[in-house]
Amino acid sequence: MELKIIEPKTKKAKPTGNLGFGKIFTDRMFVMEYANGAWGNARIQPYEPFVLEPSSSVFHYGQAVFEGMKAYKNEKGEVRLFRPRDNFNRMNDSNDRICIPRIDVEFALEALKKLVLLEKDWIPTEPGTALYIRPSIIAVDRALGVHAAHNYIFFIILSPVGAYYAHGLEPVGLYVEREYVRASKGGTGHHKVVGNYAASLKAGEKANALGYDQVMWLDAKEHKYVEEVGSMNIFFVLNGKAVTPELGGSILPGVTRRSVIELFKSKGITVEERLVSINEVVDGVISGKCTEIFGSGTAAVISPVGKICYNDTDYVVGGGKMGELSMLAYNELTGIQTGKIPDPFGWVMKISD
Ligand SMILES: Cc1ncc(COP(=O)(O)O)c(C=O)c1O
Repeated sequence: MELKIIEPKTKKAKPTGNLGFGKIFTDRMFVMEYANGAWGNARIQPYEPFVLEPSSSVFHYGQAVFEGMKAYKNEKGEVRLFRPRDNFNRMNDSNDRICIPRIDVEFALEALKKLVLLEKDWIPTEPGTALYIRPSIIAVDRALGVHAAHNYIFFIILSPVGAYYAHGLEPVGLYVEREYVRASKGGTGHHKVVGNYAASLKAGEKANALGYDQVMWLDAKEHKYVEEVGSMNIFFVLNGKAVTPELGGSILPGVTRRSVIELFKSKGITVEERLVSINEVVDGVISGKCTEIFGSGTAAVISPVGKICYNDTDYVVGGGKMGELSMLAYNELTGIQTGKIPDPFGWVMKISD
């Protein structure tokens, strides 16, 4: 498929100071449309608003998916993507689940590389910063009625983002949610479908109001097994082993989660993917068998957990400090992503003109 380039007439000033997360967007975006049974009209064009009719299906039935990944630039100006193929493959899994036509992963990768290179001056280089990449697909049929749409827009926008941790790697507090659920088996929770996030907001607000950073979700059926955290997967260090909930059909298969598992295994650290009950975690924290808890996800990479609240009681984990395996995962993953340390796994895609 041809990829057209439409250059912006004017360019924005590059940001200075604290970038925050997802507030600034670059000059260009990638857009492709699905109509008459095929993806086409692929182009890199100026970042600008879409004109959509109020009847557009995405507004009524939420048929939309998205992805999140990052590009990094080092002092030599080398640009790197981290496992982008995994994100586009996951996007196709999400597409299948909610009847959106699949995208051509190799074409999407080529378009992304081209877009990121055109916007490479927007990639920040301060430690911890990156260019966040947000691919999305929305249904745009101009008609009401609950059925899969026939028209879609696939777009990729880019946002320079600041260091997730403004003051070093600060452990977060998690609120174990017992009333609301995020996902159930057979639903859409293990795909990156937009409705999942709307459904999670209420519990997130509740956790924040109670003074916690994010929600720790339990399974929908028994409210017994830990699933994941707001926008991260979760790991426990229990009896010296890294334990993470198995992907049972209601947990998002995180690219960072997969990378932590592969990294730990390569270092001889035992990793167990299995059911983890909240009682096992709480008992482990009380007895000292659970020495670390950390979240994994694109935004923070690794997020140490300093305390969890279950049944109105706070349990402090690892003295409220970041543990050894959490630190190892953070240093190795961010080192590989930014090119500071070699990538023996073939995860990094180096891109250049
Ligand atoms: C619900 C949820 N779980 C886990 C993750 C972590 O996934 P990844 O490591 O691919 O960013 C994310 C972020 O994408 C998420 O939204």
